[in-house]
Formats: sequence, C-alpha cells, structure tokens
Amino acid sequence: MNILILGSGGREHSLAWAVKQNPKTDRLIVAPGNAGIALLAEVAAIDIMDGAAVVEFCGENAIDFVIVGPEAPLAAGVADATRAAGILTFGPSAKAARLEASKAFTKEICDACHAPTAGYARFTDAAAARDYVTRHGAPLVIKADGLAAGKGVIMGMTLDEALAGIDDIFGGAFGAAGAEVVIEEFMEGEEASFFILSDGTNALPIGTAQDHKRVGDGDTGPNTGGMGAYSPAPVLTEALQAQAMAQIVLPTIREMAARGTPYQGVLYAGLMIKDGQARLVEYNARFGDPEAQVLMMRLGAQALDLLLACAEGRLDTARVTWAEDHALTVVMAAEGYPGTPRKGTQIKGLGSLPETGWQMVFHAGTLAEEGAILANGGRVLNVTARGETLSQARDRAYAMVDAIDWPEGFCRRDIGWRAL
Ligand code: AMP
Ligand code: GLY
Repeated sequence: MNILILGSGGREHSLAWAVKQNPKTDRLIVAPGNAGIALLAEVAAIDIMDGAAVVEFCGENAIDFVIVGPEAPLAAGVADATRAAGILTFGPSAKAARLEASKAFTKEICDACHAPTAGYARFTDAAAARDYVTRHGAPLVIKADGLAAGKGVIMGMTLDEALAGIDDIFGGAFGAAGAEVVIEEFMEGEEASFFILSDGTNALPIGTAQDHKRVGDGDTGPNTGGMGAYSPAPVLTEALQAQAMAQIVLPTIREMAARGTPYQGVLYAGLMIKDGQARLVEYNARFGDPEAQVLMMRLGAQALDLLLACAEGRLDTARVTWAEDHALTVVMAAEGYPGTPRKGTQIKGLGSLPETGWQMVFHAGTLAEEGAILANGGRVLNVTARGETLSQARDRAYAMVDAIDWPEGFCRRDIGWRAL
C-alpha cells in the first residue's frame, strides 16, 4: 500500500523507519520530512495544516493510508478531512484531539468518568484567578488551556511565581491558547508515559517510556521538549498499567464514545506515580517525541500492522509481539537550545554509523545542502539504540554519540539514570 506520514521530526523519522520495514508498504511519502527521512522515503513539500491540500495530494498519489504525526494538524481537523474523503487515517478527529488541545476539556472528561487526576479550577478572568491563588497558596500549577508547543505550563512553587504565571498567560504570552487558565493542585511523584492505541471502542497498550524534560544532567536547567527517553519504564509496573487502564484510559475512551466523539489514534497518557497509584497529568493525542523513537525501535515493522488495526477498528484482535528488550534515545541539540538554537552548523560522521534494527540515528531537525547535513532546529538528532538490557542500549547509544563529529551540538550524558 501507499502510505503518507505527516510531520518532520524525529518522531516521524522513527515512524517512517518502522513502516518502511513492513512488507505491506509499497510507496512511502513523508511530508514535509527532513534530511534523514529523505534517505529512506520520498519527501513532499505540502502544507500539512491544510486538510484540503493533504486530501488533494492523497488523490494525486493514490495514498491508501495517512498517519498524522504532530498535534497541530490533528487539532486543525486534518484527520477529519482525510477520513471524510474516504482515506484510511491514523489519528483522532479535531473533537477527539481536544484531549490534548484543551486542558479544561480533559479535566471535564476526568470529572465525568471519575479518573484520578490533580484537583483544579478554571478561569477566564485574571482577577478571579489571582484571588483563587492568593486564597489557596502555593504550590500550584498554572496552565494555558490551549496548545502552546509544550510551553503553556508554569510551576507556581511560590505565590509570586503562580501570580506571575497568571499575568503572563492572561497577558497574551501564549496568544489564544491562554484565553482560559486551568489552575491545578501540584502533584508529587515520579512521571512516566503510557501509550495506548484506541480504535474508538477497544484499547491496546503499546508500551511505556520515560522522558527527560530538563536540559541539563541531573535534571537541572530549563524545561525542553525532551532530551532523551527510554522504554520500557520500570516504574510503570504491570499492576500500575492495569490500574491506569481500568481507572483512567478505558473510562476516558468510553466517555469520548458516549459523547459521540470516539477517540481513534494513539492516546499518550502522562502519569504521576506516588504510593503505588497513578494519576493523570495530561493526555496527548499523538506519539511523544522522543518517546516514539524508543517505541518504534522496539516495535519495528509490526508498528504498521498495529496502526492499521487501530484505523480499521480491529484492535480487539490485535496483539503486540514483545521481545525482552530495552531501547534508549539520546537527543543531540544545537547550542542555545531551548533558547534560540544555532542553525546551519555541519554534522559529520553520520555516514560511518551502521543503521540496523539495533541502532539508528533519527533526524529531528536537519537539512541536506550539497551533500552536507546541517543542523536546522533545536533538537537535531535522536541517537537511538536497542539492547537486551537498558545499560547495553545506553552504551550503544552513547558510543554512537561519541562517533558523531558535531562540536556545536550537545546532549545529556545521563539518559536513563532513574532506571539504571
Ligand atoms: P503538561 O503539558 O500538562 O504535561 O505539563 C508539563 C509538565 O508539567 C508535566 O510533564 C509535569 O512535569 C508538569 N506538571 C503538569 N501538571 C502538573 C501537576 N498538576 N503537578 C505536578 N506537575 C505537573
Ligand atoms: N516528549 C514529550 C512530548 O512529546 O510531549
């Protein structure tokens, strides 16, 4: 079959890598893609936020299956447009993607289905929000309701920080995403990510992972989109996964279906674990980045079969074939990230790294120019390896990092520390 993947990051490179290995794949096109993706698939320059343009491209290229990578086109209704045109699509409708696009909506769903999560209040008015925070006291978490590229969450560890967060959001720091503010109880514990495919009715867990949000070793410095990840996350035990399915994921899927907005796609549940209980931090309507890179490394070619079963409503009979393995990815970022990254520096040494089912360098933000690979973003490479143990995966990944010649790039040296 002919497959179109929408997106241009390391997540989409890893999806393309897995899909490409499946014999069902004839033609594979990624739009807009990046320099690494262009080495294994065709790339096409289309506006992935424009549903009509995507549908037209699918018609011209006889596309049988569309996989939507990032949240922005989902929230913009691109999966609705392709499905309405009769094209098999992986990814939720705009209404179902509100589980990521509106934090207040997710809280409403949790209330309706009694899913354990942080206590909260919501406000459309700064004075009322400030008054609530002053009465309540710190710590509190202040969130812009809408999509803010991962930046709309402010930790109010002191009253001043919480009040400043409210002023920033209502002051327009996140544009329309900040028209409403959600104020949450601060949850302590250890965070982990749980990935579940849902076809609207059935749910199938496809893996766990743990991310590293801070830019520096030892979890120091500012927050980022994620500096590395590994899978599985040992903190998410079988018992915790069962509890999260029973109390959080399945009730959410039933509630979404009951409202006439069934959730079809991958549900990424960010969980906070404390005292043997998981509570929901947030949902995302897509794979994590860089969590997808470790999940795809472990799933390999079967990922396509699972995404097809999801899109076709056949998850009740789908199964994951697990290996006794571990995967780990190290993000290499450009100097300056998560502030303004330095662009255009040359990355050497990639050609000499073997790319196998055990190790891959996924590209997140690269550009090819006259045969050279140049950095073209903040997070630039996802150096990913698999092993029989996590420490084996880690050693393989860092051996690759050390073989890459890119003086203007940096990475954390301690990815996986919690589990190692
Ligand atoms: P979110 O975008 O909602 O996942 O928030 C981003 C990050 O902020 C999460 O990954 C957590 O580390 C943190 N966070 C969000 N909500 C809370 C909360 N209620 N309590 C503690 N930490 C939180
Ligand atoms: N790595 C965090 C995310 O994809 O949201």
